Amino acid sequence: MIILKKVNDIKSYLSALTKTVSSIGFVPTMGALHSGHISLITKAKTENDLVVCSIFVNPTQFNDAKDFEKYPVTIEQDIYLLEKAGCSILFLPTVDEMYPNGIENLAHFDLGFIETILDGKYRPGHFQGVCQVVYRLLEIISPHKLYLGQKDFQQCMVLNKMAATTYPTLQIIICPTQREPDGLAMSSRNLRLVPEDRLLAVNIFLTLQFIKNNIKPGDLNNLKQNAIASLTAKGFKVDYVEICNADSLQLLNDWNGKTGIVILVAAFLNGVRLIDNLLIKEKE
Ligand code: PAJ
Repeated sequence: MIILKKVNDIKSYLSALTKTVSSIGFVPTMGALHSGHISLITKAKTENDLVVCSIFVNPTQFNDAKDFEKYPVTIEQDIYLLEKAGCSILFLPTVDEMYPNGIENLAHFDLGFIETILDGKYRPGHFQGVCQVVYRLLEIISPHKLYLGQKDFQQCMVLNKMAATTYPTLQIIICPTQREPDGLAMSSRNLRLVPEDRLLAVNIFLTLQFIKNNIKPGDLNNLKQNAIASLTAKGFKVDYVEICNADSLQLLNDWNGKTGIVILVAAFLNGVRLIDNLLIKEKE
């Protein structure tokens, strides 16, 4: 694996390959890699001549300065895992390299409704930051395919919307959420959980499963309220438990029993914010 830190270096490296490489798969990350990230690399490897992974803890997507400061960094281990997974290129830029004109006057993306709900509501500016960094990375790497995890369901929808107007040829591939043996969604932030909270954290997944197993056509408010109450009683500070239309992400208070839906949870354990979701396709 080649590690490149400069925009000009990766651009010229990739442009020299255009004759021999017909498909570049790209996996953007913020590092502290786990098997969830690696599953994206593995998938990209089967579908492309070349796989580029980026590691960049993007300051513009953190609405909470403490979260940014405490974001885990495990670069040596990340390089080892990427080598082992067969990643071709690791792009490891600095903030100055990514944003040579500073972070103050970056482009604004018209994301509409999708930015006003769920993480868009609870993390103001977060999805603008995600679009800014991914837009810049796409501009640098010019991949054919972009690999994203369903773990960040709303992020996938946001990036789909951003790419539809700015990069229409890009194919976006959404990969399933990888979980720990107890069901907790793998996440870099899990590293920040103290052992007692790590044990508690699985309740997010259990809540999603409970809703999936108990959902019935009709009013959904009781189910959502019970889920929030049960997580709160266990020590979580809940941002939301929502049930949404899986295509539009419209929040649902009522379900017709047919529409594909997604259940989404965001909750804190001692300042560590965890998110997860579960798709329910069609109910017969
Ligand atoms: P990060 O949280 O590092 O995640 C990088 C990619 O890995 C995202 O597409 C995410 O959805 C996916 N991922 C994370 N946990 C996963 C899991 N348990 N199973 C499967 N895939 C998983 O998401 C970001 O970084 C950033 O917002 C980024 C897109 C890189 C922009 O800065």
